[in-house]
Amino acid sequence: MTSTASSPSSPSSEGTSVTIDLAALPHDFLWGTATAAYQIEGAVAEDGRAPSIWDTFSHTPGKVANDDNGDVACDHYHRWREDIALMRQLGADAYRLSIAWPRIVPGGDGPANAKGLAFYDQVIDGLLEAGITPSVTLYHWDLPQVLQDRGGWPERATAEHFAAYASVVAERLGDRVTHWATLNEPLCSAWIGHLEGTMAPGLKDLTAAVRASYHLLLGHGLATQAIRAAAPGARVGIVNNLSTIHPATDRPEDVSAARRMDGHTNRWWLDPVHGRGFPADMREEYGVELPEQQGDLTTIAAPLDWLGLNYYFPQTVADDPTGPAPRVRTVRRSGVPRTGMDWEVDASGIEDLLLRLTDEYGARKLYVTENGSAFPDVVRPDGTVDDPERQDYLVKHLAACASAARKGAPLAGYFAWSLLDNFEWAYGYDKRFGLVHVDYRTQTRTIKGTGHRYADIIRAHRERGRKAA
Ligand code: IFM
Repeated sequence: MTSTASSPSSPSSEGTSVTIDLAALPHDFLWGTATAAYQIEGAVAEDGRAPSIWDTFSHTPGKVANDDNGDVACDHYHRWREDIALMRQLGADAYRLSIAWPRIVPGGDGPANAKGLAFYDQVIDGLLEAGITPSVTLYHWDLPQVLQDRGGWPERATAEHFAAYASVVAERLGDRVTHWATLNEPLCSAWIGHLEGTMAPGLKDLTAAVRASYHLLLGHGLATQAIRAAAPGARVGIVNNLSTIHPATDRPEDVSAARRMDGHTNRWWLDPVHGRGFPADMREEYGVELPEQQGDLTTIAAPLDWLGLNYYFPQTVADDPTGPAPRVRTVRRSGVPRTGMDWEVDASGIEDLLLRLTDEYGARKLYVTENGSAFPDVVRPDGTVDDPERQDYLVKHLAACASAARKGAPLAGYFAWSLLDNFEWAYGYDKRFGLVHVDYRTQTRTIKGTGHRYADIIRAHRERGRKAA
C-alpha cells in the first residue's frame, strides 16, 4: 500500500501529485533536519571562540557574495531554544548539527574551552528534552585558523589534532549522543577549498588539495577510533556529497571523462573508507604522491556504522583534454528544471546513489544526511511563505528515497537541508535552503510551505506505523 504525500493545502507546483511509498520506509525511520555551526550560530567572538578559516575567508573582500559573513548568521547561539521549538512544530525526530572546533579547542590543539562545551551541552539536553535525537557532525569546514596558519589539512598534524578534538567532544557528549559523523563533505574541503579556491581556505593547488584529501580521510579514521574509545556506544559514520555523473555524449572521450569525474567526485571518497585504497586511476590522474605512512589505509578503513549521503544534483561532463585534473568540463544541459543555485533537478540521482552504495559498497545502514533546494522565496503580505518549487523538490526526492528503500537500500533516515535559511558559504545569504524562512534583519522565523508539507509527510508516516502496530 502506498500513501500519497501531497496534501490538499499544498499542491505541487506542477499540479502533479507525487506518491511517496511510505510503507517502504521502516517504522523507526528518522525524520530530521540539518544545519552547520558556521552557517547558523553567529556569536563568532563569544565565550572564547577563536576564528576559523571561514571567518578569515568571508572577511576577505570579494570572496563571498555581498561580502556577507557568519558573524551573526541566524543568531542560533542565542536563539537555539526557539529553533528546537521549530523542530518540534515540524514533528521532526532528529536533528543533525555540527560542532564548531574553534569553540571547543580555540587553539586548534591544547586545552578545551569550558564555555564552548557548555553551549553544546545545553543544546543536546534541550534536544533530548524535546524528544529529538541529536546527530553530531564534528567537522563542517570550520578549521581553527591557527591550524591553517600551521599548514592546515595538507599537514598530517591537522588530522591528529582533529582526533584529539573529537575525543574531547565525545567524552563530554557521548553519554547522550550516539549518532556521530566525523566529516561533512570532505570533497568540498579538499577540492573546492584547495583546488578550485572558491571556499576556505581559498587555495588553487593540486598538491595541497590531494594532501588535504588524504589527511581529511586519515582524520576521519583517527577520529572514529577516538570517538569509539571515549563513547563505547557511539555509532560512527562519514558524510559525503555524491553525484550521479553522465557523459555529455557517447564519444569514448566523454565516457572516459565521466569515469574520471566519478573518480574525483565519488570513488576517491568512498573507496578508501571501504578498504579499497585510493583509486589507482585517479592517483595517476593527479600525479601527486600520497603522504602515506604504514597502517594509514587500515585506519581510514575503520568499519563504519553508517554512511551518510548528501545529494543535490547530477552532473553531465565532457572531456577537457588540456584542462587541469580531472580534465573534465561540466556541461549545462538546457530544458531541464533547475533550482535557484542553477543546479539541475533530478530526483532519480538520489535513488541511483542509494542503490549504488548498497550494491557496490555493501552499505548496511544509510542516511540521507542532506537534501534540499534553494529558491528565491517571497514573503506574502500576510507573512506566510509559499514555496511550491521547493515542495516539489522535497516530495520528488522523498519518493525516490522510498523507491530505493523498496528496492533494498537500507535507508534509516532523511535529514532535510536545512532547518533554517542560513549563510550559504560563498553565496552568502542570497540563497535560501530553509524549511523555515529567516528574516535576517529581525531574526523572525516563519515556517515555509515546504516545512508544513514535511510535517504532513512525517505525520502520515507515523500514522501508518501506528495503524500497522
Ligand atoms: O549549505 C551546504 C551545506 O553546508 C553542505 N552541503 C550543501 C549545502 C547546500 O549547498
